Amino acid sequence: MNIVLMGYMGSGKSLVGNHLAQKLKYVYLDLDHYIEIQENKSIKDIFREHGEIYFRKKESLYLKEVLDKYEDTILSLGGGTPCFSGNLELIKDHENSKNIYLHTSLNELTNRLFAERNKRPLIAHLDTTDDLKDFVRKHLFERSFYYNQADYKVSTDQKDTNQISEEIISLLS
Ligand code: S3P
Repeated sequence: MNIVLMGYMGSGKSLVGNHLAQKLKYVYLDLDHYIEIQENKSIKDIFREHGEIYFRKKESLYLKEVLDKYEDTILSLGGGTPCFSGNLELIKDHENSKNIYLHTSLNELTNRLFAERNKRPLIAHLDTTDDLKDFVRKHLFERSFYYNQADYKVSTDQKDTNQISEEIISLLS
């Protein structure tokens, strides 16, 4: 079985995915990392040199590749992956795959993302927590439509990585 983690930037997809993979002895894949290896460039540089549309095309291409190629994998998506180019359908139609939305509150996301916004091209230009919060609020409103179509939704607020992983394991068993 493949387990696919989706959710907004800062929702803990990579941390939880990694942890879950160790617990279940699954292979762990992070789609952003996979794209960086294949393109030999950081996500930040891909956005800077080629723009978002190029990134979305590559994201879709590599998502398909990863889903076709790997089994018994925990796959952490990028925050926008399920919201573009039929990617959600691709994930949902994939045989033997369960997808999980890691839901994090607006306040928690704002707190987590403010300190590390420079690493993330979509929010690097936001200078105050108020601006970041407004951006995330609007963005989440648009994206929740996609995230809410996941098979399961797990809240991450006030939980550590281990608690979230245990919750996912019990949902799937
Ligand atoms: C994006 C989220 C990022 C990365 C890219 C775009 C998004 O991944 O894919 O910067 O559109 O939300 P993380 O969610 O892992 O930060």
